[in-house]
Amino acid sequence: MDTERIRAIEEEGKKAFAEADSEESLRELEVRFLGRKSELTGILKGLKDLDAEEKRTVGPLVQGVRVALSEAFSAAAERIAREGRDWEAERIDVTAPGVSDPMGHLHPITSLIHEIEDIFTGMGFGIADGPDVESDFYNFEALNFPADHPARDMQDTFWVDSDGLDTRYVLRTHTSPVQVRYMETHTPPFRIIVPGRTFRCESTDATHEHTFHQFESLVVGETGSVTVGHLKRVAETFFSEFFGRSITVRLRPSYFPFVEPGFEFDISCVFCGGKGCPACKNVGWLEIGGAGMVQQKVFEAAGYPRGKYQGFAWGFGLERLAMMKFRIPDTRMFMSGDLRFIRQF
Ligand code: PHE
Repeated sequence: MDTERIRAIEEEGKKAFAEADSEESLRELEVRFLGRKSELTGILKGLKDLDAEEKRTVGPLVQGVRVALSEAFSAAAERIAREGRDWEAERIDVTAPGVSDPMGHLHPITSLIHEIEDIFTGMGFGIADGPDVESDFYNFEALNFPADHPARDMQDTFWVDSDGLDTRYVLRTHTSPVQVRYMETHTPPFRIIVPGRTFRCESTDATHEHTFHQFESLVVGETGSVTVGHLKRVAETFFSEFFGRSITVRLRPSYFPFVEPGFEFDISCVFCGGKGCPACKNVGWLEIGGAGMVQQKVFEAAGYPRGKYQGFAWGFGLERLAMMKFRIPDTRMFMSGDLRFIRQF
């Protein structure tokens, strides 16, 4: 066997691979030097016909050349790929200004809740919350809703399919159930607010939405220590700070089963100060929600002894406040998920 020839193939192949200047020519060279019909492969195949002595010398030599040529091929392939790249196009301008990712921000209702929490924690209030899916007991029963009260009607309440459960569940229709939950685990005196999501099974329009937010307040102390006067004063302090102008509160007699006495709660118009304008329909007052002194039956449902404590509570609509603060015309915008709306805040 001609070992000279084998060495010559190695030299020729290395030189050819080193000089190859395109992928096509490299592919041809691969076939010529390493392919199935190449001279080298022919020699490899012929090894079996050699005698033992020759096999021992020629075998390793051919194998070595094969490896060397494979490596030369790989090196050439890499070189050609590198040379083929458009370095100018790939240039990175490290001095160019950065491209920032768009950042989200808080929903206006969330920001408003934070703002309200700031004002109330400043007045010594704690913050409590409860579940959105609530049992009949906390949403109605413990709040002294008689069994046939119209607010339990399908029209107002989203009933949750409670088949097989020991009690009926609803999407809470107000934040008041948290009053009872909180009182079950705390002893007066305390003052809390409860911001949260609420649900009503109603048809929607510019002032009604099935999913909305309220914030509850509950202040309880020994009998005689918490009065309607406190309710009014705390509310006036809050609203004046919230709207950045002096606000007065008006209470009108009303009925909620869990307060006695109960009130409709109005504030002086935040736009005209009470003189009368289109926003307040010229009456000078804006309706904000319900309020009152906690019914003793609610204290009892929470496990307090009758007559020991006295307290006030209110439940205000957050969207209403947001609409006044930011002059938003339609309450459905809050839950619309429309980014053109959200981005304005
Ligand atoms: N929970 C009542 C509602 O949603 C509001 C309210 C709260 C009234 C607390 C009185 C006291 O309509």
